Amino acid sequence: MLVSPSIVAASLLKIQDQVRECENAGSTSFHLDVMDGNFVPNITVGPDYYDFLRSISRIRIESHLMVMRPDLYYSKFAKPGDLVFIHYESPINTLGLLKRMRDEGVDAGIVINPDTPFSKVSDLLEYAQILLIMSVYPGFSGQKFIDVSDKIHEASTFIRKNGLKTKIEVDGGINDNTARIVKNAGADIVVSASYIFSGNISDRIRILSSI
Ligand code: DX5
Ligand code: ZN
Repeated sequence: MLVSPSIVAASLLKIQDQVRECENAGSTSFHLDVMDGNFVPNITVGPDYYDFLRSISRIRIESHLMVMRPDLYYSKFAKPGDLVFIHYESPINTLGLLKRMRDEGVDAGIVINPDTPFSKVSDLLEYAQILLIMSVYPGFSGQKFIDVSDKIHEASTFIRKNGLKTKIEVDGGINDNTARIVKNAGADIVVSASYIFSGNISDRIRILSSI
């Protein structure tokens, strides 16, 4: 499957080397976790870090906006070729924002938390290139995987039946075992932070890619 390393787990001291290593090992995108300390109980990075990462990366960056007002910030993470994920649970009109992004030519994805049913976003999928299904509650790396196989299966069946192009990506607690579970349920892409960056980066990306 396709692998999107969650880059805030990389070493700040070795970021350039680790970015290159991820790319050479076959990653198809970087996953940038943006947290505002309000939508989730943690704070990570913002637009300046995105610009920095953009300047040293050769592959797509997908920014996962865990912020209260994605409508105010998405454009800062939206250079051509990149993608911005917005949470269905953000207290804004997500359909309105997805339509606006489409009108502006911004590649968009929609995210759902583990306790949000798929039915809430089925009507939004035509505006989203990727449906990101959380398999942990957002906020921290290194949490235990929550089995969301039924939801992945439901989404994958819906996408196929309706002839949509939306890809399914899964985020949280992904390792060589859980990647197999989500792949079998119908996922196309996995995000991984702690599994990739706590071991040999190239080996682990290759292992996930081969699943
Ligand atoms: C959680 C983030 C995830 C996280 C994944 O809030 O959205 O992308 O960094 O970390 P691992 O792979 O360690 O669960
Ligand atoms: Zn994420």
